[in-house]
Amino acid sequence: MSQAAPVYRCPHPGCDHAPLAPSAAGLACPQGHEFPFAPGTQVPVFAKEPPGANEYAAQNAAEVHDNALRWVFNTFRSDEATLRENLVRRLALRPGLRVLVTGAGAGNDLPYLARALQGRGDIHAQDFAQEMLLAGEQRHRALQTADLRLTFSVSDATNLPFADGWFDAAYHFGGINLFPDIARGMAEMARVVRPGGRVVIGDEGVAPWLRDTDYGRMLVRNNALYACEVPLRHLPAVATGVELTWELGQCFWVIAFDVAEAPPAIDIDVPHVGTRGGSIRTRYFGQLEGIDPALRDKLYQEAARRGLSRVEFLESLLRGGLEP
Ligand SMILES: C[S@@+](CC[C@H](N)C(=O)[O-])C[C@H]1O[C@@H](n2cnc3c(N)ncnc32)[C@H](O)[C@@H]1O
Ligand SMILES: [Zn+2]
Repeated sequence: MSQAAPVYRCPHPGCDHAPLAPSAAGLACPQGHEFPFAPGTQVPVFAKEPPGANEYAAQNAAEVHDNALRWVFNTFRSDEATLRENLVRRLALRPGLRVLVTGAGAGNDLPYLARALQGRGDIHAQDFAQEMLLAGEQRHRALQTADLRLTFSVSDATNLPFADGWFDAAYHFGGINLFPDIARGMAEMARVVRPGGRVVIGDEGVAPWLRDTDYGRMLVRNNALYACEVPLRHLPAVATGVELTWELGQCFWVIAFDVAEAPPAIDIDVPHVGTRGGSIRTRYFGQLEGIDPALRDKLYQEAARRGLSRVEFLESLLRGGLEP
C-alpha cells in the first residue's frame, strides 16, 4: 500500500506551514485560511492564475499545449517519450518514494514517473493554471492504483503548500522560465525535498556556445524563451552533486542536484602563514577603514622588521590603543 494521503500545509506567510483540516468546501488552516476544492473535484486550490490570464489558463489550454509540444518535438526531430524517460531517470526513483512535479501542466510526465516508481509510491502534481492541471487530472487519473497514489493541487510553485522535507524527489520541465521568481521556485523545490533527495529541473535556453550562430538566433527570433539563460546562480545554497546538460538540439538546459542537509561549511579560522597573516574570518569580517597609504606602507615595513604578519602587528597596535 502507498503511504498516507498528502498532508497539505497552509502556504500563507505567518502560518508557518500549519497542517490543514477538512472544511465545508475544502481545507482550512487554524488561522482561518480556506482552500476550496476545484468545482466537482477533490483538487484543492491554494492559488491560481486568473482564468484567461495566459495560454495555460485559457479554456482549451491542454489542447493548445499539445500542439506546441508536437511542434517542439517535430522541430527538434526528437521523441517526447525518449526525452521524458531520460529526464525522469535522473531522479533515481525507486518504489515507495514520494515525488512532486511542479508546473505539471497536463501531466505529460506522470506516466514516466509512475513507471520509474514501478507502480508503487506517491506522486503529487501541481500547477498554477487550473485549466491545465484539471486536464492533467482527467487524462492521468487512471494511473492511480492501491499502490500508487496520484494527487493534484492548483498552487503556486514559488509558495508550495507542503512541509519541509515532505518529498523524496521533485521534478519540473518546461515552465520555470515563466515563474515570477526562479530562485524561489528552485528554493521551494529544495525546501520540500528531504536532505539527500534529488531535484531535476529543465526549460528552454539555447546553449551559450550556439547563441551567436544562425541556429541560435533563429530559435530566439521564433520564441524569446530560447534566449533564457541556464539559471545556475539561482540554485539554492543546499544544492550539491549538480549536473547540467542541454537536450533537444542543445536548446533545453536540464539541471539535476541533490539536496544537502545544509549549505557547504568550512573552517574560516585556519590561520594563513605568511606576510599578510589573518584568516578567512579576519579578511571578510575584519575589514577596516582606508588609511593614509604612506602610513600603511610604514606599518607593513615595521611588521616585516619585527617578524610578525601584518594582521598580528595591526591587531597588537589596535589592542594596545584600545586598552584603558
Ligand atoms: C510549458 S507548460 C509545461 C507543462 C509540463 N511540465 C510539460 O512538460 O508538459 C508550463 C507550465 O508551467 C505552469 N506554471 C507557470 N508558472 C507557474 C507557477 N508559479 N506555479 C506552478 N506552475 C506554473 C504553467 O501554468 C504551465 O502549465
Ligand atoms: Zn493559514
